Amino acid sequence: MQFEIVDHPAPRSAEQIKSILADPGFGTNFSDHTAVIDWTEQRGWHHARVEPYGPIALDPAASVLHYSQEVFEGMKAYLHSDGSIYTFRPEANAARLNKSARRMALPELDEQLFIASLEQLVRADKAWVPGGEGEALYLRPFMFATEAFLGVRAAKEVTYRVIASPAGNYFGGELKPVRIWVSRDYVRAAPGGTGEAKTGGNYAGSLIAQQQAAEHGCQQVLFLDPLHENAVEELGGMNVFLVTNDGRLLTPELTGTILEGITRSSVIQLAKDRGLTVEERRITLDEWDRGVRSGEITEAFACGTAAVITPIGELVDGDHRIASTGTGEVTQSLRDELLGIQTGTVEDRHGWLHRLA
Ligand code: PLP
Ligand code: COI
Repeated sequence: MQFEIVDHPAPRSAEQIKSILADPGFGTNFSDHTAVIDWTEQRGWHHARVEPYGPIALDPAASVLHYSQEVFEGMKAYLHSDGSIYTFRPEANAARLNKSARRMALPELDEQLFIASLEQLVRADKAWVPGGEGEALYLRPFMFATEAFLGVRAAKEVTYRVIASPAGNYFGGELKPVRIWVSRDYVRAAPGGTGEAKTGGNYAGSLIAQQQAAEHGCQQVLFLDPLHENAVEELGGMNVFLVTNDGRLLTPELTGTILEGITRSSVIQLAKDRGLTVEERRITLDEWDRGVRSGEITEAFACGTAAVITPIGELVDGDHRIASTGTGEVTQSLRDELLGIQTGTVEDRHGWLHRLA
């Protein structure tokens, strides 16, 4: 499928882009273009295009607005020193988008077309990729039901889009441990639910817990397994790892209620390459607490595309606190290695990079 390219009539000037890239923040500025592909039950995917970024005209009865039939992805484009631009494991994002789409009764998008949409957008908006430490152009592919119909069934009209947003540290400012609120009132996912899908409703459902977290001075929420007492699942938008003093890396196993992070699977691979033992299994808060007290658990970190690898500080569980393990050596060096691969300063041993422009 060929992409039609419709250039922005008044793109931002080099000066304007420069001032945005000087302090990109997270998710507040958007590049000049968007990639779009439409789908109908009759025609399948059609009319691939890159067009000026701007508001979308949507029928008020569009089913996404009522029943949240939507999925999304999160990935990044990294600037290398020779000016080329790469993304990281896009086939994995394509596969996960389709897994989420199946769960939400949306159409699957061919991997080649998914990757082409990223290439076309990034080629149009090459100037928008920041190059500072930990910075990248965040890419947000998403798919949603546009059919105007209030009956509850899978929509017959769908749109897929990609938008791009220059990004620095997700948590703002310098990298430092994030304080975590343990959610006791709300769960994120349950067996048979949508926890394994990257769909907007999971995030909408997490916001009230995120508000509680903020009221208690915490930046993220830790969700627990609703079936197994005190078993750790994941943060609102990141997977969790613990590091032990005898060279093990612990992370909750994928049970169908956790999002399978591409950063998570990359960290597991990099840790194994270093000879660390990786245990994917049930981890309870009691084990975490005891481990920190005894010195067996020396580090804790969160990981995801937006957060990269971010150290976890103190855990606030009602009146109880699990002490911060600070920013440990393993956390820092895994972060440096992963960012190094992504930005082209460390060898890409696993063939994870894909050139976009
Ligand atoms: N868990 C949740 C709930 C997420 O939203 C994300 C972010 O995409 C992750 C984990 C990490 O996934 P990834 O490493 O693929 O970005
Ligand atoms: C990501 O890491 O890409 C995410 O989607 C997490 C959050 C910003 C929703």
